[in-house]
Amino acid sequence: MDYLKVIGQKKLQGSVTISGAKNAALPLLAATILSKNKITIDNLPIVADIKTLLKLLEMLGSSYSLDKSMLQIDSTSISKTKATYDIVKTMRASILVLGPLLARFGHCEVSLPGGCAIGQRPVDLHLKALEQMGAKIEIKNGYIQATTDGPLQGAKIIFDKITVTGTENIVMAAALAKGTTTIINAAKEPEVVQLCEVLKDAGVDIQGIGTNEITIQGKNQELLNMKDFTIIPDRIEAGTYLCAGAITNSILTIQNARADHLDAVLSKLEQMGFMIIKENSSITILPANRIKPVNITTTEYPGFPTDMQAQFMALATMADGVSIIDETLFENRFMHVGELVRMGADITLNGTVATIKGTPRMLYGADVMATDLRASSALVLAALVAKGETNIHRIYHLDRGYNKLEEKLTNLGASILRGKEKL
Ligand code: EPZ
Repeated sequence: MDYLKVIGQKKLQGSVTISGAKNAALPLLAATILSKNKITIDNLPIVADIKTLLKLLEMLGSSYSLDKSMLQIDSTSISKTKATYDIVKTMRASILVLGPLLARFGHCEVSLPGGCAIGQRPVDLHLKALEQMGAKIEIKNGYIQATTDGPLQGAKIIFDKITVTGTENIVMAAALAKGTTTIINAAKEPEVVQLCEVLKDAGVDIQGIGTNEITIQGKNQELLNMKDFTIIPDRIEAGTYLCAGAITNSILTIQNARADHLDAVLSKLEQMGFMIIKENSSITILPANRIKPVNITTTEYPGFPTDMQAQFMALATMADGVSIIDETLFENRFMHVGELVRMGADITLNGTVATIKGTPRMLYGADVMATDLRASSALVLAALVAKGETNIHRIYHLDRGYNKLEEKLTNLGASILRGKEKL
């Protein structure tokens, strides 16, 4: 296993180019199951989760070639419809093949994704919605066994909770269903929007894209004529690098970023005293004279993203005052707290609410352990500003969603090296 060694308190400068969005690429790769032609996808993020989903699609019968971030993929020859536990356990977003496989083949078996570090993360809403569309769903030996007699039927789906991958699964299933599907209380994340836009370009009549009510006219199992497309920039990677600039109080520019996908994050950075300059596809952050404390409640898009909560908690340890962060989406997304406290942060938890006493304080380098994808990035941010050396262990979590992070940070002036754990 790898670890990262960081020597803190280096100023950063320069610019970093943001990769394609992992959480846009995952549903879009699953959507190739619906395509009757081979397609080219550009700006694919080369991160572990993407490689895992490509491995799953290849197991099902897809073929692909990858040249840097340009992917050519042909899922027309898929013949298998079983997503096995060994793959799904490593990447819960594999659940995204459920809707497309069922819509195209009328049957599939997908391993139930277990919980994960940040929470139990059930998929009950995905399954209930597919049943409303006529699917017969059984859970057997840890697998979701789904079948339909003929095409899925369009239905009116009202999600009890806003679910990103739930919305994506049903949009894809509805694209090949017979009749009209309306999703009420749909997720509005930019990644959901791009999926809908790609399907619309492939000939699916979709209305309400980007709103919480999406209506899809199904193609009655007629495969789609998908067009080539480019993955949108990763707003969470962009937010993470902005926090790297903020926590080291540096001038930093991020290229190939969509400021309009980051309103809530940019607004919180400005509330903390940082200046943000938005240009066409770049965002520059300028240092704050005094880092002010901040209050954050995570919520669905366009509200403050839960995937930026850990990074802002690291930043809040440097604020002059007390910050409050309320994590409303996941029940266990504070595992970075213990590690930040070991570095000298003053953070107390009360249920879903974290209180961070900043009063500019010193963080000290330490051996710390990554526990989940975004917690790992929070530890990197803390290490950038800590006095001395920090070793971050189990960074396979980080590799799931960040492409060449240590290279990008080194190019900005950080002292960060990847090493192999001594066995
Ligand atoms: C997506 O996960 C993202 N993953 C997550 O990003 C992100 O944190 C999350 O949305 C929230 O924005 C991908 O897009 C691949 P949800 P998802 O279904 O779809 C409950 C990262 O860091 N729920 O929107 O799995 C659930 O427990 C990852 O890149 C049900 O109760 O999240 C949670 O409380 C981490 N039943 C809430 O809804 C269901 O059937 C939101 O979950 C589905 C969800």
